[in-house]
Amino acid sequence: MITKSSAEKILKKFPENKILVVGDLILDKYLWGEVERISPEAPVPVVDVKKETVNLGGACNVAWNISKLDGQVYIAGVVGDDMNGKILEELLIEKNIKPILIKDKNRPTTEKTRIIAVSQQLMRIDREKKDALSSKVQNRLISSIKEIVDKIDSVVVSDYGKGVVTKKIMDFIKQTGKPVFVDPKPSNFKLYRNITIMTPNRKEAYECVKMDRNKPVEKVGKEIMKKLNIKDLLITLGAEGMALFTDGKVIKIPAKARKVYDVTGAGDTVISVLAMAKTSGANWTEAASLANYAAGYVVGEIGTVAIDRDTLLSVIP
Ligand SMILES: Nc1ncnc2c1ncn2[C@@H]1O[C@H](COP(=O)(O)OP(=O)(O)OP(=O)(O)O)[C@@H](O)[C@H]1O
Ligand SMILES: [Mg+2]
Repeated sequence: MITKSSAEKILKKFPENKILVVGDLILDKYLWGEVERISPEAPVPVVDVKKETVNLGGACNVAWNISKLDGQVYIAGVVGDDMNGKILEELLIEKNIKPILIKDKNRPTTEKTRIIAVSQQLMRIDREKKDALSSKVQNRLISSIKEIVDKIDSVVVSDYGKGVVTKKIMDFIKQTGKPVFVDPKPSNFKLYRNITIMTPNRKEAYECVKMDRNKPVEKVGKEIMKKLNIKDLLITLGAEGMALFTDGKVIKIPAKARKVYDVTGAGDTVISVLAMAKTSGANWTEAASLANYAAGYVVGEIGTVAIDRDTLLSVIP
């Protein structure tokens, strides 16, 4: 699928790539603690918090993956007028990601907090507002992107369904003429007509075209491409790898993981590596194969991790 020497050539160009990520920004929080007793107030454990950590989530994790691969990366999205928005901005800058953050007074910065004790997640608490952005906020986001659009090579849309990806924003992105890579949310399927490629997982692919689960994935892929008027498509198949639709063919790429610890974030790795490789001149088969190696590596690591170029090259035989 990809040889080590062609991977080397493609990876060498990564630092020249200028990528804009647009989508739903998420701040991931973790409260690490211990449980010693049951609450006297209700039959629930009392967690004594020992440590608090934060991480980039949603579209921010895609930007972090690209930055870790030495790409030059901008991220455009919306935060609330709150402390979490400031934390997110600092984290992005720290990781070498150029933030284009629009403050929306009418929504909080999307936050997902996990409470972890005895090596186990006890609860997740979400704070978010998923309504579509107001017309005013959409216009502010579009004007801010316009200021940097001449500097970028490609756009990655990371749609977590929190309201940033709207028809107006997608139409604007498409008319820039840059290649557009989309990690989709099936409920927004209609917005993705005429993009370059999208990377649904199996479940999302079936949901996109409301096809019965016993239909073969080939049929689903063809239906998606017909409806969206696109020539290329990558459906990720978890432990089975991926199905790449290109040149009128379907190419099955088997999964590469040796061990599996944590599959969260594998989809973010796929879209990041795919966009970076394609922007560096790879063909679709090479780009998908590289993404598959990268995802195979990250699922074998504990927690959501980003892969660097040396590590990616080292896992290619
Ligand atoms: N159990 C596994 N074994 C080997 N590789 C895996 C496994 N799960 C995922 N992968 C790799 O990760 C890629 C993406 O996985 P998947 O299809 O689960 O995406 P996803 O559901 O979008 O992930 P996410 O949870 O990040 O949204 C696969 O194409 C494969 O390369
Ligand atoms: Mg996904």
